Amino acid sequence: MKPDNVTFEQAAAAPVAALTALQGLRDKGRIKPGQKVLINGAAGGVGTFAVQIAKSFGTDVTGVCSTRNVDMVRSIGADRVIDYTQEDFTKGEQRYDLLFDNVGNHSLSACRHVLNPKGILIMIGAPHDVRVIDLLVRLIGALMLSPFVSQKLITFIAKSNEEDLTIVGELMATGKVTPVIDRRYSLNEIPEALEYLEKGHARGKVAITLEHNNET
Ligand SMILES: NC(=O)c1ccc[n+]([C@@H]2O[C@H](COP(=O)([O-])OP(=O)(O)OC[C@H]3O[C@@H](n4cnc5c(N)ncnc54)[C@H](OP(=O)(O)O)[C@@H]3O)[C@@H](O)[C@H]2O)c1
Repeated sequence: MKPDNVTFEQAAAAPVAALTALQGLRDKGRIKPGQKVLINGAAGGVGTFAVQIAKSFGTDVTGVCSTRNVDMVRSIGADRVIDYTQEDFTKGEQRYDLLFDNVGNHSLSACRHVLNPKGILIMIGAPHDVRVIDLLVRLIGALMLSPFVSQKLITFIAKSNEEDLTIVGELMATGKVTPVIDRRYSLNEIPEALEYLEKGHARGKVAITLEHNNET
């Protein structure tokens, strides 16, 4: 059920992105209070939920995004924000317990380098222009490497279920999670909406709004 204080637009923006963030962090990442979590791609559809959900678990969150999104990512709760146009997080001194990667633009070894020895890399996304063969090499590489290293390298596909949607609803009802809506398009502007999404720089979610037609 949609909580009363959540709009239809916010509710529609949540399911896949919020479930991916919740299941990735909680089930695959076994997130715990006090951990250091890095969200790569913190300004996107999944990333904006991941920052807020990771904060709701009492973790210390670093978000990675471009310059124009630094203030927004901070405003949704990130403790630190790394502007990837200025700094490469894989070359920094900081080590993380969880790396939630929505972008997939760094090699496995670069990602492992910033993980603690028992850290977990959760691979959610891939670059928009990635070749299938490169994606397979990365996924198979992670599978083959995983048994031989102390860190966990995990990829997964989120599953829709009522129990987790209820949890997402509660997080939204209590204000711990607020969907970030970037642009709104009408039904007949769906091609433009998809074109915008495919550029890979949406800020949060893009919504399709349905106009009421009182004459029908
Ligand atoms: N495994 C699953 O179940 C599952 C579910 C949903 C989505 N996905 C995948 O997860 C990925 C993310 O989905 P999404 O809906 O969040 O995508 P999205 O909304 O299109 O992501 C756009 C965001 O990516 C950021 N970004 C682009 N290049 C970046 C870089 N080099 N470093 C850091 N951030 C960068 C952009 O921030 P700037 O504008 O600041 O660059 C933008 O905010 C996609 O590959 C999608 O297919 C997987």
